[in-house]
Amino acid sequence: MKDIDPTTVSADEWDELNFPRPTEQEFDRVVERAISRRGFLGGMLAFGSGAAVMGTGLLNSTSARAQQANRFAFKPIPIATDNTVHVPEGYSWDVLIRWGDPLFAEAEGDFTHETGGSVAMSDKVFGENTDGMELFVIGGRQVIAVNHEYTNNKINLPQTADGMPASADDVRKLQNLQGVAVMEVRETENGWEVVKDGPFNRRITHNTPMRIAGPAAGHDLMKTVADPTGTESLGTFNNCGAGKTPWGTYLTCEENFNGYFGATGDMPADEKVAAGYQRYGIGAEGRYGYEKFDARFDVSQSPNEPHRAGWIVETDPSDASSTPVKRTALGRFKHENAACVLAPDGRAVVYMGDDERGEFLYKWVSRDVYVPGGDTSTLLDEGTLYVAKFNEDQTGTWLALTPEATGMSAAEIAIFTRTAASKVGATTMDRPEWVAVNPTAIEAYCCLTNNSRRGTMNDDGSIRTNAGGDAMTVNAVNPRETNRYGQIVRWRPAGENHASSIFEWDLYVMAGNPSVHTEGLNAGSANVNTGNMFNSPDGMVMDSTGLLWIQTDGDDSNEGDFAGQGNNQMLVGDPVTGEIQRFLTGPYGSEVTGLCWSADRRTMFVGIQHPDAPFPDGEGKLPRSSIIAIKRDENALLG
Ligand code: FEO
Ligand code: CA
Ligand code: CA
Ligand code: CA
Repeated sequence: MKDIDPTTVSADEWDELNFPRPTEQEFDRVVERAISRRGFLGGMLAFGSGAAVMGTGLLNSTSARAQQANRFAFKPIPIATDNTVHVPEGYSWDVLIRWGDPLFAEAEGDFTHETGGSVAMSDKVFGENTDGMELFVIGGRQVIAVNHEYTNNKINLPQTADGMPASADDVRKLQNLQGVAVMEVRETENGWEVVKDGPFNRRITHNTPMRIAGPAAGHDLMKTVADPTGTESLGTFNNCGAGKTPWGTYLTCEENFNGYFGATGDMPADEKVAAGYQRYGIGAEGRYGYEKFDARFDVSQSPNEPHRAGWIVETDPSDASSTPVKRTALGRFKHENAACVLAPDGRAVVYMGDDERGEFLYKWVSRDVYVPGGDTSTLLDEGTLYVAKFNEDQTGTWLALTPEATGMSAAEIAIFTRTAASKVGATTMDRPEWVAVNPTAIEAYCCLTNNSRRGTMNDDGSIRTNAGGDAMTVNAVNPRETNRYGQIVRWRPAGENHASSIFEWDLYVMAGNPSVHTEGLNAGSANVNTGNMFNSPDGMVMDSTGLLWIQTDGDDSNEGDFAGQGNNQMLVGDPVTGEIQRFLTGPYGSEVTGLCWSADRRTMFVGIQHPDAPFPDGEGKLPRSSIIAIKRDENALLG
């Protein structure tokens, strides 16, 4: 491990330091970049009616627009730099649940600020780093399924000096605090609460039995000593964003799974395995120290175990004893979320981002159609995976990842999806985070959070690439060098059909800082101003009225390029006018991530992840990732 603290560095920085990406010799890229930029601005200004007007030349139109009535029911709030949550006048918030709070009565009173809770109860409590979530109504009860992405070891293991586990028990505690929680919630006279011992309550951890389905199931690369069939694995990892299917299941998405693996002996020599490790960032030094105490995570002993992570996992929240299923047809990469929608003919379409610098945006289309009430047990197993190619003229193509197109078998396409996508010439993206589908128009959105390496050169003058050698040249959809602020791309499929393989696109917003950069692309697009600015859009959900809720995971230093942007926040955007207003600010150091609504849409549940402040318990207490419940005065509708 190089000179960084693995317990506090971000997954993105950790990968960059440990697995610096190779280079590509391309000396004509400067010229190409200039063409791209002209194409971007020209294209945006010409984009059709209804789209947000883009281009920094139109920045001044924003203030005039803001004076007109808009669809937002609240007065926007200023930035904050303090240690708590703020919402607009007329709204209030309360904590629903925090890391360490019991889901089962037997864990009541287990959490203390000295211990961070016991090992024995660590899979009976709400886990760490709350992230994507969905609410289900099951037999009249409201049930939230929510991800626990990763751990903050120094906080979760307060007795250790450096946050690195010192025993198998420490490892087990970390493993138990991650995964998924399913919990019943109800609203009482005193506000919302989790129903302890609710019949649907369960914790899914790094050790929960899973079934492997789809094209990779049973392949040699999926077999281990403990599972010679390659069809049964343990655990789901780094559960980031989420999704919900029309048939009522929960999709949890495995993102930075690579960090859980390390080696106590030699790294695997097999060429295919080694090439996969290189592309996905699996090295000898694990981020969490699991490999020292749990042989399953030691790739010198279990070289195929990492192939069993990096998937989308389908779980039935209505049956706490059901076995979650890894749906390998949807590909293996650093999955952000899974936005599932039906094509007009009933086929399921799942949009998915791969969150790493220069990786890709994907779509999967089922072979079979969804029939309400019909059997859905194999619906996510047969279909076609596609990767996005964005053209400079604002058209795009979904390129099918088939054996014919890639020269790879269906199982290899599933296991080494990134390699397959590189072969067909997908567009390198600025870290695709959540995709949101508009329920009121046939269009979808993806947050491209930032990319500090976009368009940058190595010392020898070659352009930076992703781990597959694909150049991160500036292009129309990722138009900025050293992209600090991020953007949101939107696409409309041809024929108003999400299963179509062609689309048109534009940028809904290009975040920026107009107070620091008065001109140029870093000022942001026309719908960004000094009153609503932000950086690094990440979580994103469309509400039932077609408003776009945007959550940030960015630089909250409030200095330099980020001066005046404050803590991470949640904003809401109008897709039609392009207007954006700030609705919520999080406590210092936190990321705002995860959003769902109560069944009556009069409560909004929002995730506050890894505060670096004594939130919500106050001074001298451990910071605790929490879900908050937001209400509006008069119990009014919230989206
Ligand atoms: Fe877990 Fe890309 O955020
Ligand atoms: Ca995220
Ligand atoms: Ca992020
Ligand atoms: Ca995060």
